[in-house]
Amino acid sequence: MTAEVNTRGSLRKRLALILTGGAAVLAVILFVVVRALSAQIAQQGQDNVLSASMSSILDSAVIRDGRISLDFPYSSLSMLTTDADDRVFYAIYEGDILLSGYGDLMVPPGITPDVSQFSTVDYKGQPVRVATGARTLVGADGQRNISVSIGQTQDALSNTLNAISRNVALLGVGFFVLATGLAIWAASFTSGQLRRLTTSVTKRGPQDLSPVAKPVPYEMVPLVGSLNTLMSRLDHTLTQSEDFIAEAAHRIRTPLATVRSHAEATLQRVEHPENRQALVSMVRAIDESSRAAGQLLDHAMVTFRAENLERSDVDLTELLRELVQRMRPIADMKDITLDLVADGPAMLHGDAILLQNAFRNLIDNALKYAPAETAVKIRVAGRSVTVCDGGSGFAADEIHLLSGRFVRGKDTGNKVGSGLGLTIVQAVTTAHGGTMTLSNRPEGGACATVQF
Ligand SMILES: Nc1ncnc2c1ncn2[C@@H]1O[C@H](COP(=O)(O)OP(=O)(O)OP(=O)(O)O)[C@@H](O)[C@H]1O
Ligand SMILES: [Mg+2]
Repeated sequence: MTAEVNTRGSLRKRLALILTGGAAVLAVILFVVVRALSAQIAQQGQDNVLSASMSSILDSAVIRDGRISLDFPYSSLSMLTTDADDRVFYAIYEGDILLSGYGDLMVPPGITPDVSQFSTVDYKGQPVRVATGARTLVGADGQRNISVSIGQTQDALSNTLNAISRNVALLGVGFFVLATGLAIWAASFTSGQLRRLTTSVTKRGPQDLSPVAKPVPYEMVPLVGSLNTLMSRLDHTLTQSEDFIAEAAHRIRTPLATVRSHAEATLQRVEHPENRQALVSMVRAIDESSRAAGQLLDHAMVTFRAENLERSDVDLTELLRELVQRMRPIADMKDITLDLVADGPAMLHGDAILLQNAFRNLIDNALKYAPAETAVKIRVAGRSVTVCDGGSGFAADEIHLLSGRFVRGKDTGNKVGSGLGLTIVQAVTTAHGGTMTLSNRPEGGACATVQF
């Protein structure tokens, strides 16, 4: 029996989603940070070369015959050669006067001598990195300030950055895939702990209400603790219920039996027909109550034990032989012959008390509803038991209803009963995974077959 459980989401999926989402965010951060750092380092490299080129031009400046002369080596500009054939621009000023180079290559105002300045400007439709420096020359006619700007396009730099971005993106994707794999594994591992606990609980026998002893992760201790408390309470309640049923049966049947014996004894002494009739009705009512109480308690016991079958290897033939022996006195009172036909032992791993209860109800019905001087045949064949009698059989129109609770046939006459006998048989059979079939023999008589 599986109880309906309300579900909301999946822990495993939620955990995997959170971890994968985290991995995706980390991969993006990794990409952005590594790319920014690479850009900074690459820019630093370009700035260093520009600065060296600018310094070598400035260093070559001298005052000759009152004029500023710059005789810078070829290497001053050739050091700026790149794979991407970046274009190089330069401008040399004395104060505001252009001495050489591109006049529109801006020289930032307020240049401090011996300090290099770097800026990225848009020059001739392209981003150009410009390094600017200044130097003060002292001549016969005083101080002369010259400033030099060297600009270079950034094709090689952006090529390098693109290559780095591609590699970092690949690294990010690799990291994401790895982290996702790890996330799925971690989520499965975590939910696996819960699954293992579930398996260990569901694998138990129905009577096993012992606490869960398997070690569990720290976080699952409260859950297992509550489960163990629940099981110990259930164990206690079940034991109490079992004791209660046995006690109740005893307490109801015993006083009723006493009242019945008093009523019968009084019936022997009373002669007045009206009083006798009243006593007969009283005995019948007591019989009805006693039967109903007994059957109700048996039914409660069967319902209770059906959930917790106490199985053992039972020989159905042997069990029926004992039962027949015990019920023979009742059969003899009605001159009914009680025959047991069996090929041999018929073993079943079942609850002997419940099986005995079920068969007793079938034989009890046969003895109760069949007329005197007939025969009741009990046949054990394989794992099926059939009880047939020589009575009028089940009424065809109600045969399918008779195993219902408190259902009695229309023609029960004055036979005492509560309508629970076949309900008990059905419950016991179902608990053992079997089926009960009611039928009528062609030659007359009812047959109840229990097949395991
Ligand atoms: N062998 C039988 N022959 C004819 N009718 C039967 C036979 N066995 C059962 N029935 C019918 O099926 C009905 C239900 O049987 P069931 O054993 O459940 O209840 P009951 O015998 O009336 O009461 P009790 O609970 O005391 O056994 C009976 O009332 C009776 O009408
Ligand atoms: Mg009955």
